[in-house]
Amino acid sequence: MNAPVASITEIAPRLHRISVAMPPELIPGGFSFNQYLLMDERPLLFHTGPRKLFPLVSEQIRKVMPLEQLRYIAFSHVEADECGALPDYLAAAPQARPVCSEIAAMVSVSDLVDVEPIGLADGQVLETGRHRLTWQSTPHLPHGWECGYLFDETSRTLFCGDLFTQPGTGDKALVHDDIVESSEAFRGHMDYFSHSVNAPALIDKLANLRPQLLACMHGSAWSGDGASQLRKLGRSLSS
Ligand SMILES: [Fe+2]
Ligand SMILES: [Fe+2]
Repeated sequence: MNAPVASITEIAPRLHRISVAMPPELIPGGFSFNQYLLMDERPLLFHTGPRKLFPLVSEQIRKVMPLEQLRYIAFSHVEADECGALPDYLAAAPQARPVCSEIAAMVSVSDLVDVEPIGLADGQVLETGRHRLTWQSTPHLPHGWECGYLFDETSRTLFCGDLFTQPGTGDKALVHDDIVESSEAFRGHMDYFSHSVNAPALIDKLANLRPQLLACMHGSAWSGDGASQLRKLGRSLSS
């Protein structure tokens, strides 16, 4: 295998993980880019994936719904794998709006694309129909002034972006075993956290949401007692 391979898996009712496996020939050790599609009255995509992977990712979305029905294109912070394909999705889905932090909207997204972004403040609610999501501002966790996450209160899913980044091609869509050990080993090689003094408090804030599903951008999604994984990560960050 020397080309990216995309797949789509329903990991919770009406929640799909679209994963692109990057083989070791392309990224040493292999890597994965995941996007999450929440199918609701107003469908939401969390992370667009890099611009160059748009054909692969959008092809997977089309397996379960017409691309033009997307309404919200959300992401954690401004980077190629978070929102690189945003212009392509906005072109394909005329009713779609970018969804990000108010800082991301103000500083970058309102200039990067022509569709006015929905810039969310900490705790602000976004309803997709049956699902009620809240924005969780987490400046500099793991990186980016504008960083934040969406928490789906309805399914207790935390769309946690780069937190718990695991190496490898992420072939298992959903796991229940510990993901802190492998993601912390990865952090040992790639120092992608910002070393912010606020990290422990922000991890605590996310743990207090008591998520039952962690929708990771890189590696497997995880289901179980999310607070325990978050607190374990917090302890590791402060040690
Ligand atoms: Fe990132
Ligand atoms: Fe990422």
